[in-house]
Amino acid sequence: MTHKIRVGLVGYGKAGKAVANILGTDPHFDLRWIARRSANAEPQMHPDTDIPIISIEQQSFDELFDRHPVDTIVDFSTPETLHAYGEALRKRGIMLVSAISAYSEDDLVYARSLGRDTRVMCSPNITLGINFLIVAAKLLRKAAPFADVEIVEQHFRDKPEISGTARKIAETLEVDAEQITSLRFGGIVGHHEVIFGFPHQTVRLIHDSIRREAFGTGAAFALEQLANCDNGFYTFEDLLMRVMRAELAGIP
Ligand SMILES: NC(=O)c1ccc[n+]([C@@H]2O[C@H](COP(=O)([O-])OP(=O)(O)OC[C@H]3O[C@@H](n4cnc5c(N)ncnc54)[C@H](OP(=O)(O)O)[C@@H]3O)[C@@H](O)[C@H]2O)c1
Repeated sequence: MTHKIRVGLVGYGKAGKAVANILGTDPHFDLRWIARRSANAEPQMHPDTDIPIISIEQQSFDELFDRHPVDTIVDFSTPETLHAYGEALRKRGIMLVSAISAYSEDDLVYARSLGRDTRVMCSPNITLGINFLIVAAKLLRKAAPFADVEIVEQHFRDKPEISGTARKIAETLEVDAEQITSLRFGGIVGHHEVIFGFPHQTVRLIHDSIRREAFGTGAAFALEQLANCDNGFYTFEDLLMRVMRAELAGIP
């Protein structure tokens, strides 16, 4: 695609608002509309822009896509919404970048089926930084399987469960979940650290989340990469690995 990628953002909650701040100001994208579930008293435009906020209770996704065509949608709503727009996407070949963290197995089977007719990326963790950390940690683990691995995660005082991202890192590196240390204090947004203990050196890979806008940066990366892919189902890691392979092969 050489023109600006026309985007429809689905979901305007805590994450969606931050993502709109990024996609609405990035010159590579034309954020055409934002869809949320209900109409409410808030302004019907994203602040300081003319990007309309549309209630999906008042029109179907089919109507929305016909009235306001887009090349892609970015989903920060709920797992169920996939089924409300899936066939409308499939019919028009509209791309999908979905950040939904809690898809069921059935939802994922359905999302994969959309990949037969269009380009789909689903990522339960859409920050560029965490995905880069995971890929880098995986490579180091491969190069140095003898090094001790410890995972430290820190979050705000009231987060009850062990971070899903820390579990994913442990799973990817094939280390026991017992190697995760969780610290809870203050208002930390999200800190993940993978420590490789060698006999004569220590390597620490650290990611700190600062603001939810990081989800928008990840979505922007995914959109640009996915626009150059064939139809199919991708993960964030697939897209990141494409960039790394091209870089390693010396292809611009
Ligand atoms: N992958 C990642 O790294 C990542 C990061 C952050 C969040 N997420 C995911 O993003 C989603 C949203 O998180 P959040 O914290 O922003 O939640 P939230 O504050 O509850 O916002 C949810 C939004 O979805 C909208 N919505 C619900 N059903 C819809 C439908 N059928 N059509 C259109 N919009 C609909 C809601 O509309 P109303 O405003 O009208 O209620 C609301 O704006 C969650 O699934 C979360 O797991 C993923």
